[in-house]
Amino acid sequence: MIKNICCIGAGYVGGPTMAVIALKNPHIKVTIVDINAERINAWNNKDISQLPVYEPGLAEIIQKTRGKNLFFSTEIDKAIDEAEMIFISVNTPTKTYGKGKGMASDLKYIELCARNIAEVAKTDKIVVEKSTLPVRTAETIKSILHNTGNRINFQILSNPEFLAEGTAVEDLLNPDRVLIGGENQAAIETLSNIYSSWVPKDRILETNLWSSELSKLTANAFLAQRISSINAISELCEATGADVNQVAKAIGMDSRIGNKFLKASVGFGGSCFQKDILNLVYIAKSFGLEKTADYWQQVIIMNDHQKRRFSDKLIQTLYNTVSGKKITLFGWAFKKDTNDTRESAAIYVADHLLNEQARLSVYDPKVSASKIQADLNYLNTRSEDETAKLVKFIRDPYEASYDSHAIAILTEWDEFKTYDWKSIYKNMKKPAFIFDGRNILNKAELEAIGFEYYAIGQ
Ligand code: NAD
Ligand code: UGA
Repeated sequence: MIKNICCIGAGYVGGPTMAVIALKNPHIKVTIVDINAERINAWNNKDISQLPVYEPGLAEIIQKTRGKNLFFSTEIDKAIDEAEMIFISVNTPTKTYGKGKGMASDLKYIELCARNIAEVAKTDKIVVEKSTLPVRTAETIKSILHNTGNRINFQILSNPEFLAEGTAVEDLLNPDRVLIGGENQAAIETLSNIYSSWVPKDRILETNLWSSELSKLTANAFLAQRISSINAISELCEATGADVNQVAKAIGMDSRIGNKFLKASVGFGGSCFQKDILNLVYIAKSFGLEKTADYWQQVIIMNDHQKRRFSDKLIQTLYNTVSGKKITLFGWAFKKDTNDTRESAAIYVADHLLNEQARLSVYDPKVSASKIQADLNYLNTRSEDETAKLVKFIRDPYEASYDSHAIAILTEWDEFKTYDWKSIYKNMKKPAFIFDGRNILNKAELEAIGFEYYAIGQ
């Protein structure tokens, strides 16, 4: 039985996943390591509200387990040495250089982990791919581990993670399925036993390595495809007088289609959907499967179009110019209940409005001013000074919207629904516009107050 687990990568996946494994397996010591000392310090922060990842319910679990059987450390070699099972949960971003730039996954962090394990290990290990990886990556890891010459027996498993941010704890405690791909039955069972301390056995699915790796990319591609599909229909709704919420409800009641993931929006964001589809497209292309590649590429094309369409509509409605106008953005995170902003639609909408010389006032309950500046600076569209001058982060939504021409809702935070919209209206320039990129507000109520209200697909 496993007594000691190490996880390399203390991010949005490593942190919550290992916290739940530790909670449900008090007899196992779990050590999460990372090269980023600042992140590890934040995980070790006494003030539990300052953890580097915000997820409902996570702080409570960390409080129960940290220092008992859950540890955060920068001593990577020591943790690898002690562990019988090592999860690799490092980032696998889209490549920004060289072959496959802008498409393929950058696997340099994965390879570094494999080399690190190969160098340090003195006893047999089960190495688990937790990161999302291109199909057949296990082969690379195997090749590195098996060529160290130190005669250690390594078993490689693929165990992709399906949690969604904002509901990570709930998803981990009650997963639809846990997927384990591998070649060695004993290793598969060892990992399966860790999960079965809280997941029913019939929800733990075993496959071969390649099916497991490919299933993760496929699941994300299907989910993103549903959003692009309903977003494509939202444009048609706006042109025809149909209402996308009504269409989504009508089709979602067909049990073959199902009602989830049919919310039209300003476009999907997050660190994974785009990256994983680009990776799928790249893999298909590398096998010469051009039509398959084109098919999935279309999901991204539609998503980019939806973000652009939203900001175009705002500019056009504001009499074709936003130059010098104050526009308020409510929400910066890529979805509610997370502080994660990676690939958030808000970044691209903001960048477009800034190109048109708008002045932006941003409010988000969980995202910091420095993060917003950093997200925009990363695009490299304008100087950092100019961004700082044009974009203000305001801690209070009423102050943020004061004297603005329009409000754009870019994240579906629940608190936006309960604002005193009458008082917001009073303090805005007239006509006062709302562009609801998440379809969360009540059109009739806002129009009764006096707002000019635009939603997606209505
Ligand atoms: P993240 O960037 O939040 O965390 C990754 C961590 O790995 C970072 O803290 C980084 O410092 C660390 N790291 C990188 N190289 C290292 C090395 N050589 N040694 C030690 N630490 C190292 O990323 P994430 O969001 O947790 O995603 C991790 C993986 O999980 C990705 O492959 C992603 O596609 C996948 N995934 C993410 C989610 C999600 O919701 N974020 C869900 C499912 C799967
Ligand atoms: C997604 C998947 O849901 C997870 O199963 C997967 O593990 C994860 O990616 C990953 O691999 O990283 P996540 O990106 O955290 O999770 O969040 P989602 O709830 O999937 O939302 C993604 C984006 O789509 C958000 O911007 C969200 O607002 C948007 N969305 C979602 C819509 O626009 N409409 C919907 O109906 C659903």
